[in-house]
Amino acid sequence: MKLGIVILAAGQGTRMKSDLPKVLHRLGDRPLLQHVIDTARRLDPERIVVVYGHGGERVRQAIPGDDLAWAEQAAQLGTGHALAQALPQLDGVDRVLVLYGDVPLIRAETLQRLIQAAGGEGLGLLTVTLADPTGYGRIQRNAEGAVACIVEQKDASPEQLAICEVNTGIMLLPRARLDHWLGSLSNDNAQGEYYLTDVLAMAVAEGLPVAVAQPDSPVEAEGVNDRLQLANLERALQRRQAEALLRAGLGMRDPARFDLRGRLQHGRDCELDVNVVIEGEVSLGDRVRVGPNCVLRDCRIGDDVVVLEHCVIEQAEIGAGCRVGPFSRLRPGARLLGGNHVGNFVEIKNSVVGEGSKINHLSYVGDSEIGRGVNVGAGTITCNYDGANKHRTLIGDDAFIGSNTALVAPVVIGPGATIGAGSVITREAPAGQLTLTRARQTTVEGWQRPRKKPRGEEA
Ligand code: UD1
Ligand code: CA
Repeated sequence: MKLGIVILAAGQGTRMKSDLPKVLHRLGDRPLLQHVIDTARRLDPERIVVVYGHGGERVRQAIPGDDLAWAEQAAQLGTGHALAQALPQLDGVDRVLVLYGDVPLIRAETLQRLIQAAGGEGLGLLTVTLADPTGYGRIQRNAEGAVACIVEQKDASPEQLAICEVNTGIMLLPRARLDHWLGSLSNDNAQGEYYLTDVLAMAVAEGLPVAVAQPDSPVEAEGVNDRLQLANLERALQRRQAEALLRAGLGMRDPARFDLRGRLQHGRDCELDVNVVIEGEVSLGDRVRVGPNCVLRDCRIGDDVVVLEHCVIEQAEIGAGCRVGPFSRLRPGARLLGGNHVGNFVEIKNSVVGEGSKINHLSYVGDSEIGRGVNVGAGTITCNYDGANKHRTLIGDDAFIGSNTALVAPVVIGPGATIGAGSVITREAPAGQLTLTRARQTTVEGWQRPRKKPRGEEA
């Protein structure tokens, strides 16, 4: 049986109070709609059609994919009308699964279960039972307990309002009946809309079976209408991710203070302290420890690395056994080859640091190649930018750069060279020798510091 998926995403999202179309607001690392599309793809459908309306072009541009078909719903006349806009693109499919672009945490496993439950030609309805069903369409069952119809909140009688089983909106429908059913919808109801939910009573009248499935957690069916709901779903997503990582063996001091906006791979016995934010693609080797308040964005961290508190590491690579932080910043292209120490207020960009080299305090290293066993003293700066171009600094193995040195690039420091503290190095420093640029220290014999006159003696 061929499956088509329609994602309804034309709603305006007024309550977000935002210029951004609602379905483009982010949850984790992706827009709401992208979550739904990614889940839809996991079902391997014949076709995915997104019904868009508000901010149409912006939505299409933000969501890539050759496999996506788009249907415009120019005026939002209801969910039934929205699905009707997708029908022309659903020829050749047998069943249509309706998803919502603003219900992002629905899981593929739950949808599979709904599809299984519905079997061949019947309908499938995903419902949840809520302590507070306010706002949702209620599932009205008959005396035998079979689903009879869905009643919207605004059309419901007091008895119907007391029903706690509600429509998630997610349903599976036989394609062959849809033209007829959607064509027969009326908007004679409290909201003056064409309700997709009305097809249920039509199916029941035709004697079609209606199967019901429920998600493991109601959060899967929760929609986003305002920023409070978005923030709540963000916590739910983070909790889901953190639990999966904990089960996979990642140590985490507090899963409530962990944010993953992307993908994290990890080896054995890694441990994250609180408030670690992981973005993009991050991998950790074995026994990595990350201190509190660190941001790791698109980086690779090797075995036995310790990242102390308050570090920002972006598009960087940290080799085995390094110790970084506290307060270090590794920017794009920083590569620590292993066993390095990078300390507080050190910024490294587009540079390779050889094995065992140390940059412990207050330095800027940019566009550099540093050999092994190098000691970069406190306050060393590579002056890599002349206002127009970037230049490289090369430092050979076992060099020693004295504190507060300015290395004016392009410049080469030979292997084993020593640079005296406070130097401004503009030319090559030869291997194995001491180079320094410094005025000689002098002492003025007999010099006396000016003194204030004692009180009462002033002129
Ligand atoms: C709908 C269901 C209700 C269910 C609830 C679950 C109907 C009539 N009601 O109600 O039974 O409990 O969802 O959240 O279906 N949309 C369009 N075009 C439109 C109208 C809506 O694309 O003309 C999209 C929205 O962007 C949204 C989804 O459909 O993604 C649901 O629309 P919404 O207005 O939130 O429906 P509810 O009234 O909440
Ligand atoms: Ca809604």
